[in-house]
Amino acid sequence: MFETGWTVLVYAIIEPSYTYLYGHNPQLRLAVQKQGDPSKPLPKMQRPSKRLREGFVYIMPLLIMDVTMIKKFHGVPVHEMALSGNYDPDTVGMRGTFLAPTLHRFSWSSPLQTQRALPLSAPSSRQLVTQLATSILIYDAVFFLFHFALHKLPLLNRIHHVHHGHAEINPQITNQLDVVERLGLVLLANFSLNIIGSHVLTRTVFIPTFIGLLVDIHSGLDLAWSYDKILPKGWAAGSQRHSYHHQHGSKYYEPFFNWWDDLYGLIIDGRKGETSEVRQGR
Ligand SMILES: *[C@@H]1O[C@H](CO)[C@@H](O)[C@H](O)[C@H]1NC(C)=O
Ligand SMILES: [Zn+2]
Repeated sequence: MFETGWTVLVYAIIEPSYTYLYGHNPQLRLAVQKQGDPSKPLPKMQRPSKRLREGFVYIMPLLIMDVTMIKKFHGVPVHEMALSGNYDPDTVGMRGTFLAPTLHRFSWSSPLQTQRALPLSAPSSRQLVTQLATSILIYDAVFFLFHFALHKLPLLNRIHHVHHGHAEINPQITNQLDVVERLGLVLLANFSLNIIGSHVLTRTVFIPTFIGLLVDIHSGLDLAWSYDKILPKGWAAGSQRHSYHHQHGSKYYEPFFNWWDDLYGLIIDGRKGETSEVRQGR
């Protein structure tokens, strides 16, 4: 259950920090900057005590998978995975790839999956950084497609509406998601890590990086130190593009970067110069 717990802990630190900034710096809010009206009433924010249900709904499906499925981390021998799942490694024909999920072998003496077999050696620092960057790029591309489908397919659009039904974006919107969309998001992140065989340690570093980016793009704030201001100009989607997406419900489907959106705009709509359009407000 480590990754589930780690994710919740990291989220519970990062998102309220942004929410605090949001609440105390109305002049930094993109919507206010655009409309030039700092006296606009604050959107409804939820108190931490009201958010236990949100936490519960997030944790439960992941926890259920944690205690029923064998963890298949890259670099772990298959027989170790089998042992962790209460199987006899000599007789079970288990596959070591994450693409072939295996349930725990439930028994009275081992009613739940409680162990995860880990690789013996650590990754090199170069491997860690490369895997981290690559998995973020893969996620960015696959989520672009998923998000595009969420908008274009009527059935999925109903699901995505939970994430879009607000007048003004704020950090708490990050996790305002239908269970199906949230699971899709988590599974795509898991896929992006697994498909390149990321080390468990990379996964552990991925979680704060990923959540930091997710909260940042939903912050609705024009912060001087946001990742889009740190990266070379024109690389990142940032909160500007994502706020635009939430406000208009169209364009800018890519969460973290620009490339796929720009390519899509160029090919399908023949659009050009989108980046400058959004950036005008700066
Ligand atoms: C996430 O990835 C791990 C490691 O490969 C895998 O064992 C696990 O089943 C995946 N979790 C889900 C919910 O797919
Ligand atoms: Zn959307």
